[in-house]
Formats: sequence, structure tokens, C-alpha cells
Amino acid sequence: MTAEPRQFADDVPGELFDPHDPRPQILMCPPDHYGVEYEINPWMKRDQPPDHALAVRQWTDLRQVLSDAGAKILLQKPVRGLPDLVFTANAAMIYRREAMLARFRFSERQGEEQYDAQWLLASGFHVHRLPNDVYFEGAGDALFCGDTLFAGYRIRSDVRGLQQIGELFRCRVIALELVDPYYYHLDTCFCPLAPGMAVYFPEAFDQYGRDVLKELVPELIPIAEAEARRFACNAVVVGRTVVTNTGCPSLHRKLTELGFTPRETPLDEFTKAGGSAKCLTLRLDGEEAAKWKSA
Ligand code: ARG
Repeated sequence: MTAEPRQFADDVPGELFDPHDPRPQILMCPPDHYGVEYEINPWMKRDQPPDHALAVRQWTDLRQVLSDAGAKILLQKPVRGLPDLVFTANAAMIYRREAMLARFRFSERQGEEQYDAQWLLASGFHVHRLPNDVYFEGAGDALFCGDTLFAGYRIRSDVRGLQQIGELFRCRVIALELVDPYYYHLDTCFCPLAPGMAVYFPEAFDQYGRDVLKELVPELIPIAEAEARRFACNAVVVGRTVVTNTGCPSLHRKLTELGFTPRETPLDEFTKAGGSAKCLTLRLDGEEAAKWKSA
């Protein structure tokens, strides 16, 4: 007999962000209410639902791998009827103690915004919002590499909001048009590893995007399609550890050569919703590749 999958809703400890804790701090949301209940990206098929018990195991293993890498995991309470709340990367974009809250393109996810705002406010972040008609999907579409904020737009986030984010946070924003619906968030096709270093899936960008990435990121590592499809670019960087889904051997070899410690953990139940390791996390104290963090 296999054990009942553990349910988390009642034992989420409710620990909040601690600006004085030197450890990497990551927000996750237990998958109690996770599922594929609608289709808002090409990975999602209601007739191929994830196995709930297996999803719980995969999520728990990811949490463990990240803790083992030295991260402190903070938990947001799962909410019935919000199956994608597990993808905390989309909650907001974090810059120091400021959070630009998501405004989701699809009504199916808009219910998440109030819970994200509550958690961030309780954790002491200043929560900013874009105008009502401007969509923005948080760290899923906005990632620092060095001093520059790289931002994906068109499929989910609107290009219009990016200008405002740059003005608010006084940083250079490079807008990258996403052209392949399978790579609908920037974090599915681009992952900064360190200032000046990132991996990317070239075919997810137009020519301008590829050129500008090559120009601004001196060490830019292309991922082949087979591994991009395994969400190789959807990696979580904790110190020198890089965590991905299984099935990314070339990336892992490359990471080892570069002095990183790659770790894989199966996340297939989440790729059924179009997400993997990175999507399931929100780094609260600044990504390793963000210059402002180390400055
Ligand atoms: N089903 C979710 C959506 O389509 C997946 C979100 C994945 N998140 C990410 N940061 N790429 O919105």
C-alpha cells in the first residue's frame, strides 16, 4: 500500500521573508490544489491530467533538493480553485524590497493576484501594480542578468509595462519578443546563471532578440531543442548549484565544465501544465545573476 499523499494546506508554517537571513530565500506553494483544469498554453491538455500523488512527490523532492543546496524555502498557502498558484515565479518580480505584482493575462489566473499581494505585503515588500490593462507575469517574464533586466513579452506580458518597470527600478530593460507559444514565458527559454552568463533556447526569440542577447551576455550558452522541451532553461540557480528537470544531459555536462553543480529532479507532472523547476520558485533575496544582489 502506498501512503496517502501528504496534504499541506493546514501545516504551512507561514514563515515570512527575513531580510537579515543570509541564506537564499525561495517562495514555493504546495501542490494540494494543483491540476490542469484549463488550457492557457500548448502544454496544457485537460485530457492528460497530472497524477496528483506523483506531483506531490515531485514537488516535495524539488523542495528537498533546493534545501540541500542551501536555500530556505518559504511556503505560500495553497488555495482551492487556483491550480496554477504552485507556479510562484509568476507572483511578482522582486527588486530589493520592492515587488512588481503580476497582472495575469488569463482570467483563470487573475484570482492568484490577491494571495500573492497578501503574502508579499506580510513579508514586508513594497508591492507595486501596473495599470489594470497592462499584463505582466512576474519573474516568469523578467530576469536580471548583471545590471540588465531581460523581459519577455507578447505571449503573456505586455511590452507597455516594461518601460514603467525600468523607470520605477531605474534599471535598463531589454524587451525580448517571445515567438514560440511553447516558450510563452521568458523563464522557459532563458536562464541567467551569473552576471554575464546565461543559457537560452535561440528559436524562442526573433533575430533581434538573439542578437541583443549575444551582444549583452558575453557567455551565452545555446540549448538544443530536445533539452529545451525538457525545460532545460527553466533552471533554479542556488549558489553554484543548478537544478533542472530530468533529461538535460548536455546542459548538465556544460554546467559541470563551467564549475557549477547540476542537479536533476523529475518534474514531468508539472511540465503537463507548462512549468518546471524555475516556475515553481520565486527567489526573494535576488537571483544569483542579479548584480544588485552582490553589490
Ligand atoms: N500553467 C501555468 C500558466 O500557463 C504555468 C506557468 C509556468 N510558469 C512560469 N514561470 N513559466 O500560466
